[in-house]
Amino acid sequence: MTSRLRQRPAWRKLEEHFEAIKDVHLRELFADDPHRATKFSAEAEGIYLDFSKNRVTDETMALLMQLARESGLEERRDAMFNGAHINVSEDRAVLHVALRMPADTSLMVDGVDVVAQVHGVLARMRDFCVNVRSGQWKGATGKPIKNVVNVGIGGSDLGPVMAYEALRHYSQRDLTLRFVSNVDSTDFAEAVRDLVPDETLFIISSKTFTTLETLTNARSARDWVTTTLGEHAVARHFVAVSTNDQLVAEFGIDTSNMFGFWDWVGGRYSMDSAIGLSTMLAVGPEHFDELLAGFHAMDEHFRTAPLEKNVPALMGLLGLWNRDFFGFASVGVMPYEQYLKRLPAYLQQLTMESNGKHVTLEGEVVDYDTGALYWGEPGTNGQHSFYQLIHQGTAIVPVDLIGFARSLNPIGPHHDILSSNVFAQAEALAFGKTEAQVRAEGTPEHVVAHRVMEGNRPTNVLLCEVLTPRLLGSLIALYEHLVFTQGTIWDIDSFDQWGVELGKVLAVRIIPELEASEEPVLDHDSSTNELIRRYRAWKQR
Ligand code: F6P
Repeated sequence: MTSRLRQRPAWRKLEEHFEAIKDVHLRELFADDPHRATKFSAEAEGIYLDFSKNRVTDETMALLMQLARESGLEERRDAMFNGAHINVSEDRAVLHVALRMPADTSLMVDGVDVVAQVHGVLARMRDFCVNVRSGQWKGATGKPIKNVVNVGIGGSDLGPVMAYEALRHYSQRDLTLRFVSNVDSTDFAEAVRDLVPDETLFIISSKTFTTLETLTNARSARDWVTTTLGEHAVARHFVAVSTNDQLVAEFGIDTSNMFGFWDWVGGRYSMDSAIGLSTMLAVGPEHFDELLAGFHAMDEHFRTAPLEKNVPALMGLLGLWNRDFFGFASVGVMPYEQYLKRLPAYLQQLTMESNGKHVTLEGEVVDYDTGALYWGEPGTNGQHSFYQLIHQGTAIVPVDLIGFARSLNPIGPHHDILSSNVFAQAEALAFGKTEAQVRAEGTPEHVVAHRVMEGNRPTNVLLCEVLTPRLLGSLIALYEHLVFTQGTIWDIDSFDQWGVELGKVLAVRIIPELEASEEPVLDHDSSTNELIRRYRAWKQR
């Protein structure tokens, strides 16, 4: 049966339209319309989006808008903001937007004012951070805290790490921040190698407080502290961020040292909840407030701006056009700002855990492509590594190039050199170099073909003034709402993550087979059995 999406009139028209324009080159589109750059650009909250180097025309954009409207994007957006249970497979509201609503607003969900709840936790976080940053919070031996280690994984790690790196310029430099996520003991060992327990505070961050990696690392952290300082030190050296007070208490952390959040915050949408405690410790409550204000400002833009000028909606629709019609399977995100070096990793979880889905909200298998692969590296490093494939490879990779007008560390010519590459890459990818141009340069005939660059590769350029906490909040909210836009049109649940469950269950079954002192009876497939036997043999078990 044909899906709802494919039956939409706008989708059908887009299919016909695609046949008509699929071979048109960006060179022609720019030559035909001198106003293309201004026409195909938009701006919100200090982020200027130039999307003119996408393979779109006026008609494409009009049809994409029609598709968004036929798919109920505006209605579903309003339902999210009103606290409806749009996460259908888990029957939950999706309210990360409430995490950044101002204190003088309110939002009643299931009879509770969630904004008041949010600001209650924020107030406790602020007090705690002021105490730790000022040295008033003492460790078990009376020394102030100099090191903070966040222990978490997925959304309980990637947001904190990304935000810490992004806002390092604004951080208190005499506080060392470390992040432990991998269950590989090397991650923990290297994180604490040069630290001492009596000056170190662990934040155990886990929405569920059941995640095996995090609990394993948390136990090792507790052993590391208590071996030197004794059991009583746990209260001064451990705090928790979670929705599960019972398991936090069972772990041995006093729930008065716990900062809560709620089931309506998805893990990958939680960096501005109490999961941001390490961020607030690093940059201080005022900067954290600015971050929240930036998120909220972009939320308001997404909620109120007409779709034609709505930056997250535009980016979501362009991504869908590239993914479903051109069939481009991945998106590169290249921040030309060293502080954003972990942004691609953060966006991988946000986009791929959200929109890597194969069934509709009704549980029907989709008959179109959903989430693209997201990946990237900061510019200009990527240019000397994988950009060759983006320029001349057979796979076309639409790229988001993120640039800034000002550096936070201006030194000599660095920043203009950096920024010139943002514009140059977008130009080269769009227009390439024709055979005639290559020949005109006097290129020997036998290398002409090698030097031709087809161009016609789509890019978005996101240009901003300077990286601030507020700007970071707006940028992340932009991508959150891009994901929402695409998920709505794809008719999928962008807020669950059932796909990661099976691997976890199977791992739990295999652990005792690896640990057993007697040869275990294995009844996996022959490949898995053989891998386990080989592993045990090399471990001399
Ligand atoms: O395994 C996926 C996942 O559930 C993510 O969605 C989540 O961000 C991560 O694990 C960590 O979960 P928790 O915060 O509950 O430890």
